Amino acid sequence: MGRVIAVANQKGGVAKTTSVASLGAAFVLRGLRVLLVDLDPQSSLTFSLGIDPDVVEYSISDVVRGEVDLTTARLRTSEGMDLIPSTIDLLAAEAMLLPAPQREFVVRRGLEEVLSTYDVILLDCSPSLGLLTLNALAAADEVIVPLQCEMLSHRGVGQLLDTVADVHRLLNPRLRVRGLLPTMYDKRSVHARAVLGDVKRRYRVPVLNPIPRSVKFAEAPSVGTTIIATSPSSSGARAYFRIADGLLRAWRFGGRKAAPPAAPRPTRMAPSVRPPAPGEADAM
Ligand SMILES: Nc1ncnc2c1ncn2[C@@H]1O[C@H](COP(=O)(O)OP(=O)(O)O)[C@@H](O)[C@H]1O
Ligand SMILES: [Mg+2]
Repeated sequence: MGRVIAVANQKGGVAKTTSVASLGAAFVLRGLRVLLVDLDPQSSLTFSLGIDPDVVEYSISDVVRGEVDLTTARLRTSEGMDLIPSTIDLLAAEAMLLPAPQREFVVRRGLEEVLSTYDVILLDCSPSLGLLTLNALAAADEVIVPLQCEMLSHRGVGQLLDTVADVHRLLNPRLRVRGLLPTMYDKRSVHARAVLGDVKRRYRVPVLNPIPRSVKFAEAPSVGTTIIATSPSSSGARAYFRIADGLLRAWRFGGRKAAPPAAPRPTRMAPSVRPPAPGEADAM
């Protein structure tokens, strides 16, 4: 049975899409059968894998509307992951779902027919806590929460973990928090290190190894591939391989390290966390 992983954070620009694409490509190179699902009407995942949402025949919107099944909408990407593309129609499809009975389980039901066909299914969420993100959490075995190590950028994480705890309680008792994933991390930045320390203290969930900041991440999608294909030995690619291998090890040993969701402690921002001083290195 495929493991279903939701990659979620209601904040945009924290590397959800990059993480889904890069982990997917890393898993394919480890010999796994991988399905990626684009649940964002902005279609960044679809675009970044070289597929033009304007020309796809079917998309996740048609699946959500119940018009086609998942296998009809599925495409093969150049790196070997299968993809359910999204289009801007997903906004309307999500709105149509609002009055539907069992509206949180549409994605789960869609995935059921392919669960035995894949080893890993990664769900790329939109930057919202709307119905499609709830659907992703209701369908997932685990959730990964990418976040940037900047002072204001993890403020929504507590709210997301509360939502995950609610979904666990009300909709999906299988759901586990695999971890927070610090992205665009610059270990030379005093500020980033302080925020990472604060994140580790603040939330009662595992914190995965950071993904370094690198311009190579911005370059790869412009040619329709991931950093795993364009720069496989770069520090960024190696960081995603490390995460993928860590997940494989954890699954082999029964997923011991994933935390059951719990509401995070409300704590104040640690005094060690401060905005970067003028001129402090933050770029690379
Ligand atoms: N580790 C990284 N270093 C530098 N840039 C990154 C990194 N990860 C992602 N990016 C870039 O940050 C931007 C936002 O990433 P994206 O994955 O689209 O975020 P999200 O899906 O959370 O909105 C993209 O331009 C992407 O190329
Ligand atoms: Mg995205």
